Amino acid sequence: MSTSIESNKNLKKYNTFSIQATAEKFSIFKSEKELTELLSESKQHQLPLLILGGGSNMLFTQNVKGIVLKNEILGIQVLEENTDSVLVKCGAGEVWHEFVIHCVNKGWAGIENLSLIPGTVGASPIQNIGAYGVEVKDTIESVDCVEIETGLKKRFKNTECEFGYRDSVFKKIYKGKYVVTYVTFRLKKQALVNTSYGAIQQVLDEKGITNPTIRDVSRAVVEIRRSKLPNPAQLGNAGSFFKNPEIREKEFTVLKNKYPDIVSFPGSAEGLIKVPAGWLIERSGWKGKVVGNVGIHRLQALVIVNYGGASGQEVLDLSIEVRKSVQELFGIDLTPEVNII
Ligand code: FAD
Ligand code: EPU
Repeated sequence: MSTSIESNKNLKKYNTFSIQATAEKFSIFKSEKELTELLSESKQHQLPLLILGGGSNMLFTQNVKGIVLKNEILGIQVLEENTDSVLVKCGAGEVWHEFVIHCVNKGWAGIENLSLIPGTVGASPIQNIGAYGVEVKDTIESVDCVEIETGLKKRFKNTECEFGYRDSVFKKIYKGKYVVTYVTFRLKKQALVNTSYGAIQQVLDEKGITNPTIRDVSRAVVEIRRSKLPNPAQLGNAGSFFKNPEIREKEFTVLKNKYPDIVSFPGSAEGLIKVPAGWLIERSGWKGKVVGNVGIHRLQALVIVNYGGASGQEVLDLSIEVRKSVQELFGIDLTPEVNII
């Protein structure tokens, strides 16, 4: 085998929550060939398997039995280019933000609103990352995978990925069945910037930018994110801990009557209203609260933070308390966005 397998690997620096946990076995793959070798080795020893990218959407509540395979497949390749668009294939182990900046520098539009999201390109289709009015599904042409059971390659077209709000087929029937190795994006060369998310327009106005480029939008997004989201390098976290709930219009009207200042956005389907979980959590009195080594971030109530030395169980316990409060006050059950291991 061309790759080495380590035992009892400390995962602390491999998850942005900075949680101490040990993987029974651990290896890194840099190509599809190395991946298939590791898959066959794991199968032979009947090792349970966990695929890891940047660990920015993971909460380890226990040591990991079996093998953790960290994806480091690199490379960016232009497959097709014309005056309107470019088809670009990217290794799943590339750092997402670096890929965004690469595209912005080339003048390829479509993912600039997704600047500064931590993690890897390969994880981007798993939960269909989104921010500031854009979801990655709008730019993905196809997702190349290797099937864990057979080691065979499979290409999923965009429509086969069943993308939804923080959702895809890889979180449903194909959960734990495929490893993403490459993602192919269709990006535009004639930029039509999206500044619909209020805060972007506000930042651009403040800077006096009236005709923004994709670089201006990327910079505005970076500025907004830095102003309210904690940097995992300084304070352990995994971004939004919960998804924003979507409720029926009827239920929303009941809440609106009781809480006239409730914030809302259009939902992902007709008749659904999205209510920011951050608002619900703040109104439940949790914003800025510290419980032992963990807490609810003081600027963004949707983010649970590790103030240092927290266990995954402490984070999970706090999330359960928050969930209970929101359920009691608003009758809404929050769903975690973070993958709890
Ligand atoms: P990991 O955390 O390593 O893995 C996440 C899941 O994907 C796991 O189930 C893992 O098994 C699976 N997985 C990872 N790679 C592969 C692969 N190659 N093949 C198959 N399965 C794989 N998310 C947003 O959508 N929008 C945001 O604005 C946003 N902001 C964030 C801000 C901060 C500060 C942080 C810490 C996180 C934020 N996130 C956001 C969440 C996170 O960045 C994304 O979910 C990101 O896509 C996770 O990438 P990762 O490589 O770290 O995945
Ligand atoms: N809000 C509060 N209190 C808070 C936080 C938010 O009242 O403490 C209310 C405010 O009214 C605010 C609204 O919620 O206007 C929306 O807040 P924000 O713009 O910060 O976004 P969010 O809904 O909390 C979502 C995503 C983020 C993404 C941002 C920007 C989810 C679960 N989260 O957060 O994604 O970056 O929008 O588009 O959809 C992530 O997935 O990890 C993540 C960080």
